[in-house]
Amino acid sequence: MAASWQEYIDKRKQELQAVILAHYYQPGEIQELADFVGDSFQLARQAARTEARVIVFCGVSFMAESAKILNPEKMVILPEIQAGCPMADMVGAAALEELKSQHPGAAVVCYVNSSAQVKAASDICCTSANAVQVVTSIPKEQEIIFVPDRNLGAYVCEQTGRRMILWEGFCPVHDRITAADIEEQRRLHPGAPVVVHPECRPEVIRLADAVRSTAGILDYVRQSSLSEFIIGTEEGFLYSLQKNCPDKRFYVPQGHLQCQEMKMTSLEKLAWAMRELKHQVEVEENIRIKAQVTLERMLSIT
Ligand code: 13P
Ligand code: SF4
Repeated sequence: MAASWQEYIDKRKQELQAVILAHYYQPGEIQELADFVGDSFQLARQAARTEARVIVFCGVSFMAESAKILNPEKMVILPEIQAGCPMADMVGAAALEELKSQHPGAAVVCYVNSSAQVKAASDICCTSANAVQVVTSIPKEQEIIFVPDRNLGAYVCEQTGRRMILWEGFCPVHDRITAADIEEQRRLHPGAPVVVHPECRPEVIRLADAVRSTAGILDYVRQSSLSEFIIGTEEGFLYSLQKNCPDKRFYVPQGHLQCQEMKMTSLEKLAWAMRELKHQVEVEENIRIKAQVTLERMLSIT
């Protein structure tokens, strides 16, 4: 059955001159047939560069929206319209405007995990792969508002020595990992380095040997001569880690580190989406133009 879905998806991809982009947290079967698998930054770059006529985005809505913002003339399809990001939903444009009015002159840095409206109300975007670089690019004397991830924001403050006004958002998956979980894994796997995503809590980050974006974790593991790793991120990423490094072993801190939204895509849904050309992502043009500036500023410096 799965083989026939794959054949149909491949055939339809040729007909549509489409490219399939997938995030590392997507189900393994989706990663297998994607043209490109990456973290948020790599996918934004890929979306900015693609010559395909149709972009099929296997991820969550802010990712597909970013692809549309960068490619207004292309059709962008998100197979599961319900797949959102709870962290992105923690900040709205009206509340951000209110905060901005209390800090006139502040630069607003928005994590890519945010709506098109929030991007439009921000000055520059960042991902977990380039947040330190983006914040460093802002003049030292300028105040900074960072939305919506308080954990990534705190990590960037620590790395750059900058003080920022942090929004109180968080990723419900990464924020679930506790310092006790990490200590328990260290006890179970002595000698295995701890590599965590910067969406983790500060006390978890303090215990880590390395803090990396999703693609950065993969690079770290590939380059290491060690054979066992404790990984602090969404557990679906283990599929890619294991595929790329079959001789190495990976441990996640605890069960239930799964992003449900990322797991809403299935082969069947993808095939349906490509047949019906649904769901097409649209962004209101006046919002899109402003959000494009915010995204392109990031892409131009990283
Ligand atoms: P990256 O893809 O930037 O590592 O972020 C992880 C994430 O939570 C995506 O939603
Ligand atoms: Fe959002 Fe966290 Fe899921 Fe990423 S893993 S999409 S940040 S809820």
